Amino acid sequence: MRRAHGLKILNARHKEIRRLKREGHVAEIHGNKFWNSSFLIMDHLRRHPLAKRTRVLEIGCGWGLLGLYCAKRFGCRVHGIDADAHVLPYLQLHADVNEVKMMAEKKTFQQLTVDYLSNFDLILGADICFWDELTPVLINLMNRAQKAGVKEIMIADPCRPPFNDLSNKAQERFDEVTVVEKFLSKPVRASGEILIVNTRYN
Ligand SMILES: C[S@@+](CC[C@H](N)C(=O)[O-])C[C@H]1O[C@@H](n2cnc3c(N)ncnc32)[C@H](O)[C@@H]1O
Repeated sequence: MRRAHGLKILNARHKEIRRLKREGHVAEIHGNKFWNSSFLIMDHLRRHPLAKRTRVLEIGCGWGLLGLYCAKRFGCRVHGIDADAHVLPYLQLHADVNEVKMMAEKKTFQQLTVDYLSNFDLILGADICFWDELTPVLINLMNRAQKAGVKEIMIADPCRPPFNDLSNKAQERFDEVTVVEKFLSKPVRASGEILIVNTRYN
Protein backbone atom coordinates (compact mmCIF):
# COMPACT_ATOMS: atom_id res chain seq x y z
CA MET A 1 0.00 0.00 0.00
CA ARG A 2 1.22 3.52 -0.72
CA ARG A 3 0.03 6.89 0.55
CA ALA A 4 -0.35 9.96 -1.62
CA HIS A 5 -2.37 13.17 -1.33
CA GLY A 6 -3.81 11.91 1.96
CA LEU A 7 -5.12 8.71 0.34
CA LYS A 8 -4.24 5.08 0.89
CA ILE A 9 -3.77 3.36 -2.48
CA LEU A 10 -3.58 -0.42 -2.55
CA ASN A 11 -1.23 -2.14 -4.98
CA ALA A 12 -1.83 -5.26 -7.06
CA ARG A 13 -0.20 -7.50 -4.43
CA HIS A 14 -2.42 -6.33 -1.56
CA LYS A 15 -4.46 -9.23 -0.17
CA GLU A 16 -7.81 -7.47 -0.63
CA ILE A 17 -6.99 -6.65 -4.29
CA ARG A 18 -6.00 -10.28 -4.84
CA ARG A 19 -9.24 -11.40 -3.18
CA LEU A 20 -11.35 -9.30 -5.57
CA LYS A 21 -9.44 -10.74 -8.55
CA ARG A 22 -10.01 -14.27 -7.25
CA GLU A 23 -13.73 -13.48 -6.96
CA GLY A 24 -13.72 -12.78 -10.71
CA HIS A 25 -13.56 -8.98 -10.80
CA VAL A 26 -11.16 -8.66 -13.71
CA ALA A 27 -11.35 -5.24 -15.40
CA GLU A 28 -11.93 -5.34 -19.14
CA ILE A 29 -11.23 -1.78 -20.43
CA HIS A 30 -7.89 -0.87 -18.77
CA GLY A 31 -9.43 -0.32 -15.31
CA ASN A 32 -7.13 -2.98 -13.82
CA LYS A 33 -5.08 -0.46 -11.79
CA PHE A 34 -4.93 3.14 -10.66
CA TRP A 35 -3.52 5.36 -13.45
CA ASN A 36 -1.14 8.27 -12.92
CA SER A 37 -3.08 11.09 -14.64
CA SER A 38 -5.34 11.33 -11.58
CA PHE A 39 -2.28 12.70 -9.76
CA LEU A 40 -2.09 15.56 -12.31
CA ILE A 41 -5.62 16.70 -11.39
CA MET A 42 -5.06 16.11 -7.65
CA ASP A 43 -1.98 18.34 -7.79
CA HIS A 44 -3.95 21.02 -9.68
CA LEU A 45 -6.86 20.87 -7.21
CA ARG A 46 -4.46 21.08 -4.25
CA ARG A 47 -3.51 24.53 -5.60
CA HIS A 48 -7.08 25.42 -6.70
CA PRO A 49 -9.31 23.92 -3.99
CA LEU A 50 -12.92 22.98 -4.64
CA ALA A 51 -15.79 24.42 -2.64
CA LYS A 52 -17.38 21.83 -0.38
CA ARG A 53 -20.77 22.21 -2.10
CA THR A 54 -19.31 21.24 -5.52
CA ARG A 55 -21.18 18.22 -6.93
CA VAL A 56 -18.53 16.12 -8.65
CA LEU A 57 -18.92 13.40 -11.27
CA GLU A 58 -15.86 11.26 -12.02
CA ILE A 59 -16.24 9.62 -15.44
CA GLY A 60 -14.33 6.46 -16.35
CA CYS A 61 -13.60 6.39 -12.65
CA GLY A 62 -11.88 2.99 -12.46
CA TRP A 63 -10.75 2.60 -8.85
CA GLY A 64 -12.12 6.09 -8.13
CA LEU A 65 -9.10 7.58 -6.35
CA LEU A 66 -9.58 10.99 -7.97
CA GLY A 67 -13.19 11.20 -6.81
CA LEU A 68 -12.23 9.89 -3.37
CA TYR A 69 -9.60 12.65 -3.16
CA CYS A 70 -12.32 15.29 -3.77
CA ALA A 71 -14.53 13.71 -1.11
CA LYS A 72 -11.73 13.36 1.45
CA ARG A 73 -9.84 16.61 0.90
CA PHE A 74 -12.73 19.02 0.16
CA GLY A 75 -15.76 17.19 1.59
CA CYS A 76 -17.48 17.18 -1.83
CA ARG A 77 -20.34 14.85 -2.73
CA VAL A 78 -18.86 12.64 -5.45
CA HIS A 79 -20.38 10.15 -7.85
CA GLY A 80 -18.49 7.86 -10.23
CA ILE A 81 -19.44 6.11 -13.44
CA ASP A 82 -17.57 3.48 -15.43
CA ALA A 83 -18.54 1.25 -18.35
CA ASP A 84 -16.93 -1.73 -16.61
CA ALA A 85 -18.81 -3.05 -13.56
CA HIS A 86 -15.70 -4.98 -12.49
CA VAL A 87 -13.92 -1.80 -11.37
CA LEU A 88 -16.63 -0.86 -8.87
CA PRO A 89 -15.62 -3.29 -6.07
CA TYR A 90 -12.08 -1.83 -6.21
CA LEU A 91 -13.55 1.66 -5.82
CA GLN A 92 -15.67 0.53 -2.88
CA LEU A 93 -12.63 -1.11 -1.26
CA HIS A 94 -10.67 2.16 -1.53
CA ALA A 95 -13.64 4.14 -0.20
CA ASP A 96 -13.72 1.83 2.85
CA VAL A 97 -9.94 1.90 3.38
CA ASN A 98 -9.96 5.71 3.18
CA GLU A 99 -13.14 6.08 5.24
CA VAL A 100 -14.93 8.25 2.67
CA LYS A 101 -18.17 7.86 0.77
CA MET A 102 -18.41 7.80 -3.01
CA MET A 103 -21.35 6.35 -4.90
CA ALA A 104 -20.58 4.71 -8.25
CA GLU A 105 -22.43 2.83 -10.94
CA LYS A 106 -21.96 1.10 -14.27
CA LYS A 107 -22.71 3.57 -17.06
CA THR A 108 -20.99 4.52 -20.29
CA PHE A 109 -20.09 8.08 -21.34
CA GLN A 110 -22.72 7.73 -24.07
CA GLN A 111 -25.45 6.95 -21.49
CA LEU A 112 -24.99 10.19 -19.55
CA THR A 113 -28.04 12.24 -20.55
CA VAL A 114 -28.53 15.99 -20.11
CA ASP A 115 -30.98 15.19 -17.34
CA TYR A 116 -28.44 12.96 -15.53
CA LEU A 117 -25.62 15.47 -15.95
CA SER A 118 -27.76 18.29 -14.53
CA ASN A 119 -27.01 16.83 -11.06
CA PHE A 120 -23.36 17.90 -11.24
CA ASP A 121 -21.21 21.06 -11.24
CA LEU A 122 -17.86 19.52 -12.15
CA ILE A 123 -16.90 16.53 -14.31
CA LEU A 124 -13.47 14.95 -13.82
CA GLY A 125 -11.77 12.23 -15.85
CA ALA A 126 -8.23 10.84 -15.86
CA ASP A 127 -6.78 8.63 -18.57
CA ILE A 128 -10.13 8.21 -20.29
CA CYS A 129 -9.37 9.25 -23.90
CA PHE A 130 -7.14 6.42 -25.12
CA TRP A 131 -8.94 5.24 -28.29
CA ASP A 132 -9.73 7.36 -31.38
CA GLU A 133 -13.44 6.56 -31.08
CA LEU A 134 -13.54 8.08 -27.58
CA THR A 135 -12.72 11.58 -28.89
CA PRO A 136 -16.13 12.29 -30.51
CA VAL A 137 -17.89 10.51 -27.64
CA LEU A 138 -16.25 12.88 -25.13
CA ILE A 139 -16.89 16.01 -27.24
CA ASN A 140 -20.58 15.04 -27.41
CA LEU A 141 -20.55 14.50 -23.65
CA MET A 142 -19.09 18.01 -23.19
CA ASN A 143 -21.90 19.45 -25.33
CA ARG A 144 -24.53 17.67 -23.21
CA ALA A 145 -22.77 18.78 -20.01
CA GLN A 146 -22.97 22.40 -21.13
CA LYS A 147 -26.70 22.04 -21.85
CA ALA A 148 -27.11 20.44 -18.43
CA GLY A 149 -25.55 23.42 -16.64
CA VAL A 150 -22.31 21.67 -15.60
CA LYS A 151 -19.83 24.46 -14.91
CA GLU A 152 -16.48 22.84 -15.59
CA ILE A 153 -14.91 19.70 -17.08
CA MET A 154 -11.32 18.57 -16.40
CA ILE A 155 -9.72 15.71 -18.28
CA ALA A 156 -6.10 14.69 -17.71
CA ASP A 157 -3.91 12.53 -19.90
CA PRO A 158 -0.25 11.82 -20.67
CA CYS A 159 -1.02 13.30 -24.13
CA ARG A 160 -1.96 10.26 -26.17
CA PRO A 161 -3.04 11.24 -29.74
CA PRO A 162 -6.83 10.79 -29.08
CA PHE A 163 -6.54 13.16 -26.09
CA ASN A 164 -4.60 15.74 -28.15
CA ASP A 165 -7.34 15.53 -30.75
CA LEU A 166 -9.97 16.01 -28.01
CA SER A 167 -8.07 19.02 -26.72
CA ASN A 168 -7.93 20.63 -30.19
CA LYS A 169 -11.61 19.97 -30.84
CA ALA A 170 -12.62 21.36 -27.44
CA GLN A 171 -10.59 24.54 -28.14
CA GLU A 172 -12.43 24.96 -31.46
CA ARG A 173 -15.85 24.28 -29.95
CA PHE A 174 -15.77 26.09 -26.57
CA ASP A 175 -14.82 29.70 -25.78
CA GLU A 176 -13.16 29.16 -22.40
CA VAL A 177 -10.63 26.34 -22.59
CA THR A 178 -7.37 26.11 -20.65
CA VAL A 179 -4.69 23.49 -21.11
CA VAL A 180 -2.47 23.06 -18.04
CA GLU A 181 0.87 21.31 -18.58
CA LYS A 182 2.00 19.23 -15.60
CA PHE A 183 5.33 17.66 -14.69
CA LEU A 184 5.31 15.81 -11.38
CA SER A 185 8.22 14.28 -9.53
CA LYS A 186 6.07 13.35 -6.49
CA PRO A 187 4.28 11.11 -5.56
CA VAL A 188 5.34 9.58 -8.90
CA ARG A 189 7.16 10.86 -11.95
CA ALA A 190 4.33 11.76 -14.29
CA SER A 191 3.66 14.31 -16.96
CA GLY A 192 0.79 15.29 -19.16
CA GLU A 193 -1.90 17.89 -19.64
CA ILE A 194 -5.17 18.82 -18.01
CA LEU A 195 -7.82 20.00 -20.45
CA ILE A 196 -10.10 22.39 -18.56
CA VAL A 197 -13.31 23.38 -20.31
CA ASN A 198 -15.31 26.11 -18.65
CA THR A 199 -18.79 25.28 -19.91
CA ARG A 200 -20.42 28.38 -18.36
CA TYR A 201 -19.60 30.42 -21.48
CA ASN A 202 -20.66 30.16 -25.19
C1 LIG B 1 -7.19 3.82 -18.24
S1 LIG B 1 -8.54 3.51 -17.18
C2 LIG B 1 -8.47 4.90 -16.05
C3 LIG B 1 -9.23 4.65 -14.79
C4 LIG B 1 -9.17 5.79 -13.76
N1 LIG B 1 -9.73 7.01 -14.30
C5 LIG B 1 -7.77 6.04 -13.27
O1 LIG B 1 -7.22 7.11 -13.56
O2 LIG B 1 -7.20 5.18 -12.59
C6 LIG B 1 -9.93 3.95 -18.24
C7 LIG B 1 -11.29 3.73 -17.60
O3 LIG B 1 -12.31 4.24 -18.46
C8 LIG B 1 -13.37 3.30 -18.51
N2 LIG B 1 -14.07 3.48 -19.80
C9 LIG B 1 -13.60 3.22 -21.05
N3 LIG B 1 -14.52 3.52 -21.97
C10 LIG B 1 -15.61 3.99 -21.31
C11 LIG B 1 -16.91 4.46 -21.71
N4 LIG B 1 -17.26 4.51 -23.01
N5 LIG B 1 -17.77 4.87 -20.76
C12 LIG B 1 -17.41 4.85 -19.43
N6 LIG B 1 -16.21 4.39 -18.99
C13 LIG B 1 -15.32 3.97 -19.92
C14 LIG B 1 -12.68 1.95 -18.38
O4 LIG B 1 -13.55 0.92 -17.94
C15 LIG B 1 -11.59 2.25 -17.37
O5 LIG B 1 -11.98 2.04 -16.03
